[in-house]
Amino acid sequence: MADTKEKLQDKVAIVTGGASGIGEATASLFADHGARIVIADIQDEKGRNLVKSIGPHRCAFIHCDVTDEQQVKSLIETTIQTYGRLDIMFCNAGVLSQFNQGVLDFDVAACTKLFAINVQGTAACMKHAARAMVDGNIGGSIICTASIVATIGTDKSTDYTMSKHAVLGLVRSASMQLGEYGIRVNCVSPGPVATPMLCNLLGKGIEETEKNMEPRFCLRGSLKVKHVADAVLFLACEDSEFFTGQNLVVDGGFN
Ligand SMILES: NC(=O)c1ccc[n+]([C@@H]2O[C@H](COP(=O)([O-])OP(=O)(O)OC[C@H]3O[C@@H](n4cnc5c(N)ncnc54)[C@H](O)[C@@H]3O)[C@@H](O)[C@H]2O)c1
Repeated sequence: MADTKEKLQDKVAIVTGGASGIGEATASLFADHGARIVIADIQDEKGRNLVKSIGPHRCAFIHCDVTDEQQVKSLIETTIQTYGRLDIMFCNAGVLSQFNQGVLDFDVAACTKLFAINVQGTAACMKHAARAMVDGNIGGSIICTASIVATIGTDKSTDYTMSKHAVLGLVRSASMQLGEYGIRVNCVSPGPVATPMLCNLLGKGIEETEKNMEPRFCLRGSLKVKHVADAVLFLACEDSEFFTGQNLVVDGGFN
């Protein structure tokens, strides 16, 4: 196993949805482990502030809406021009259902909008990152953020649940197609974490959200972005060098 502080030495990583929540924590952890990071997001101010806190000499922000394939292509090209390579792609940008999407009153338009980000956006990021990795001929690690709802049904959020099942299908298919190029493809599936996404949905702050969820974890305490970032780091670095097509669930036994 690599030394703690050398897990991503000399590696270049892109984190989509990197300005907030799980992406923000992962970008910071990757930087702590020696990687150079490109944060890609639509929240420009938050993204630029994160670059300042990580350090502009090893981190950059690029505005990228993952629903726009041209922007995704340009994100990858700019990363290669700036840092000369791409080793790790964390396809993490995602949104929750805007409504409590039940089957009987399913809003197709809302679902289409959500899929454009969670599914097509993730696939576009994976496509262009994988092409750059194939061209670079140095292998790579692609990690997507799925969810615990990628393998179970839910009573609400039908479209979100569908979208995360699709991410898992993408990961499993891509792992079969990209292995011959030395590219590993895995996903991380978090349980509920008190990020802006979840807190906004519940209309509560971080502390209250965590306190409310605590009794539902088998382990003591609440799932935090750090726990998810640790799992993503594992999938990104050589500690998982023979893992591909896997769905790493990080949920503290949530039920
Ligand atoms: N928080 C949870 O409980 C939880 C649980 C399981 C999975 N997830 C998944 O984790 C991922 C990160 O979510 P989070 O909880 O950190 O939420 P978050 O809202 O804190 O972060 C999501 C980030 O994605 C960005 N984003 C949204 N649409 C985008 C687009 N079109 N292009 C580029 N960036 C875009 C947002 O600006 C934001 O910075 C998502 O894929 C989400 O579905 C979250």
